[in-house]
Parts: sequence; structure tokens; C-alpha cells
Amino acid sequence: MTALPANVLAEGLETVRRAPPGVLVVFGASGDLTHRKLLPALEHLSRRRLLPAAFAIIGVARTEMSDAAFRDLMAGADPDAGPGWAEIIKNSAYISGEYSHPDTFTALQGRLKEIDEALGTGANRTYYLATIPEVFAGVAQALGQVGLNRPEPGGSARLVIEKPFGRDRKTAGELDAVLHEVFDEDQIYRIDHYLGKETVQNVLALRFANAIFEPLWSRNYIDHVQVTVAETIGVEKRGDFYESAGALRDIVQNHVLQVLSLTLMEPPGSIDAQGIRDEKVKALRSVVVPKLADVPNVAVRAQYDSGWVEGSAVPGYRQEDGVSPTSQTETYVALKLSVDNWRWAGVPIYIRTGKRLPKRVTEVALQFKAVPHLAFPKQAATGLNPNALVMRIQPDEGVTLRFGAKVPGQAFMVRDVLMDFSYGAAFLEEPSDAYERLLLDAMVGDPTLFIRSDEVDTAWGVVQPLLDAWAGQGAPLSGYASGSWGPRPAETLIERDGRQWRTP
Ligand code: BG6
Repeated sequence: MTALPANVLAEGLETVRRAPPGVLVVFGASGDLTHRKLLPALEHLSRRRLLPAAFAIIGVARTEMSDAAFRDLMAGADPDAGPGWAEIIKNSAYISGEYSHPDTFTALQGRLKEIDEALGTGANRTYYLATIPEVFAGVAQALGQVGLNRPEPGGSARLVIEKPFGRDRKTAGELDAVLHEVFDEDQIYRIDHYLGKETVQNVLALRFANAIFEPLWSRNYIDHVQVTVAETIGVEKRGDFYESAGALRDIVQNHVLQVLSLTLMEPPGSIDAQGIRDEKVKALRSVVVPKLADVPNVAVRAQYDSGWVEGSAVPGYRQEDGVSPTSQTETYVALKLSVDNWRWAGVPIYIRTGKRLPKRVTEVALQFKAVPHLAFPKQAATGLNPNALVMRIQPDEGVTLRFGAKVPGQAFMVRDVLMDFSYGAAFLEEPSDAYERLLLDAMVGDPTLFIRSDEVDTAWGVVQPLLDAWAGQGAPLSGYASGSWGPRPAETLIERDGRQWRTP
């Protein structure tokens, strides 16, 4: 037989990764995350031909549901889904049972065997824990009891685990210890969906694929860094959950510190799982853990009152469903951190996150130092601010550089202008959903964008003094009107250093 000539059109396409044949087992299959995020992401993957024909989803949850009802739920992910999705729906199944009961797991074992035989899925299994966190450890142990934790010859067994990963450093360590009794670290994929966002990954591209930014990326030129994660939504239907979480656990410990570690890290030797995660954890370890006594000076917590957001009147946090009328949970955190290393010594990092703020925006802004001497008369430069490089993670994903330019006209006036890269305009497509990327990575077996055990521990270490200082009834808690940029003490936190929060 003559060999086929190389297909020149296929050159470069080997970078497209497809999931291998396999089964995705979703625990918590009747829940909100599965419905809102996982099924639509899987449908998109199938539409983009990134899932093979030999692929099935097994939903597991306590809710009674037939295979047919689960398949209807899958079909609801997108009424215009392609033929590939219909095929996957046909292969899929549902098991209802208690997460703590061995019968659930023997039933799962049976189903997996049947599917492997019928479809040739090669014993590649990805277990996705989309349940409430209280059952994470139990499900992992129960998988271990029936041997589903160990890959069969030629197959794979991976555990994808949602946040929250523990409630503090101690409980995260305990959960890790249980998981490690059953799964090896390289089988565990801890999700932080922010790492699946294209623009979060773009922080790496911006820094390490360009020669012009990195030389400026240090204390020599940067005055301070601001990280903002602002949401317009309140707690929605998650009042119960949020009451025991609060903004520090919900956003800062994970999303903010992940984005920050990518911003602060040193260039890795290689852009792979070990290279990147080693540098991220090194960066996190350089963040100075605030002393308990210092917490009131470096951190502010607050809770939203009623107000107006995007033209609608909204209730205060304590009036939300599932929230105690005397709740002390914070929906806003502002925090000042510092970093003890060669690159960042003396550069403060200001962080703020909150619900019911005026605008949905996530960004990292590097504010550069002012020029050493301004040669223009003061009144010619009233509209001039120091340069800033802003990485907009969402929405309107992109990067903006602020610099000074002459205002057209006779007089010599300078003011700020923006040089703007917009993801949508440059690539003519919107970035895909974070879950799509992360689900595919887990099924392919690429852990680069998942959080390693030592990263989780270090991140909890950074926020632990705040958790300790804020535990109990007496912790200070400011209020802020919904639709405002947060409480007055958060302004003070930054203003006393002679700086200001940006208006994104
Ligand atoms: C989740 C939090 O992890 O992230 C939510 O639990 C928050 O409270 C959400 O709303 C924000 O994610 P995104 O992708 O909308 O910025």
C-alpha cells in the first residue's frame, strides 16, 4: 500500500486536542452546576468535535431520576445541539443513590463496565465532584472501596474536584489527606474556573511571549498592583451556601490569589504543568502573610445594604433568601498585601472584591511609577496620570495601556489616552467558556490549569489570619449601598498610602 501524501492543510492542527474515548461521571448531576455549566460546556465540546463518538456521561445524585429524564436534561443543554451530542445522550445514564452508600458505587461500577464493553471507552474515567463539599471526601473514599480510584490497564482514573476546597487551612489539609489515601496527586484535578478563562491564561502570554513588558514588570517601574473582582449580582439563590462562605473564601482565597500568582510569578522554564505550578506556588509563598494584629490595618470587610444596581432596586444582603437577618457574613473584601521577594519588594498589592457593585468587571492593573520629573507646567498636565497596564479578564476581555499624549491644538496640553487590545476584535471570536477548557483538559490529562495541593495550602495560609480575625461575632463589618464601589474604610485603606482605587 502506498503511503498517503502528507496533508499540508492539516499542518499545525496537531495542536487541537480531543478527549480520548471515555466516560465522565458527574456526581451532583441533578444540581445547579451540572445544569448551568457542565452540560452546556460538554455540548459545546461535542459541537466543536472535541469529544469522540465513544463517549458517555453517567450522572450520579441523590435525586430520583430515570435514565430517560437525565437524557432529557442533557438534551436541554442546547435545543439546537448537533448530532454528536445526540449520540452522547444515547450512550449516557443516570444512577440515583446516596453518596455514602456502597450500593451507589457498585451500581456505578456495573454501568461503567457495560459502557466500556458496548462503546470501547477503554476504562478512561473522569469523576467530577459537582456536589456539596460535605460529601467530597466520602465520594472519594467510596470510589476507593470499589477500586474505581485505580486505573485499569490502559485506562485512566481522574478526580475533578470543585471548590470550596476546605473552609480554612486545616480543613483543606484534612480533605487533602483523605483524597491522598485514595488518589495520587497526579490523579486529582482541583478546579478554579478562573484558570479556564482565556484572559487569565493570556496573562502568561502577555508576560512571557513579549519582550517589552517583562523588563518593566517589577519594583523598578511598578508603583502598585490592583486586582478587582466586582460583581453586580447579589447572592442569588445561594444565600444558604454564601452565609457560611463569605467573599474571602468565595473569591479571594481562590480566584484572586490564582490570578495574582500568575501576575507575580517568575518566568517558568517551560509552559507546562510543573513549570507553571512551581512558579505560581513560589510566588504565593512570597506573599507576606498578614499578622493577626495587623488585620484591621490591611483588610476591610463589608456587607451590602439595599440600593440600586443597573437601574433596579435591590434588597440588602440580610433580606436575601437563606440569609440571617443578623448575618455577619461579608460580601465585600478589600485587602492590602505585600510580597517579600527581589522583584516585588515594596510594591503594595491592593485587592477588592464584592457583590452588588456598580459594574461587573474583573481586572488586574499594574500602575507604573510617575515620571521622575514632569517637564510640563502643572496646569498643562491636569488630565495626566501615571501609566497603567490593565489586563481585563472580563467582560470585554483584553489589555489596555494608558499613557500620556498631547491634546491636539495650539496649547501644549497632555492627557491620558488608551491603547486597547480587545480579544473579540482581534480574534473575531469570543473566548470559550472556562468550563469547556477545563473539562477537556481533565479528560485529556493536562493538569496545568488545575491547582496543586501545595498551592491550595499556601493560598489558605495567606488568608488564614483574616479568617481568624473575623471569626466570631465581634469582627468589624461595614455596610455599603448596593450599586456603590464599597464602604468608606476601603477607600481609606488605599488613600492613606496616597493612592486611589481605579474606576474600571
Ligand atoms: C464563583 C463564586 O466561584 O465565582 C460566585 O462562588 C461568583 O459567588 C462566581 O459569582 C464568579 O464567577 P464569574 O466567572 O462570573 O466571574
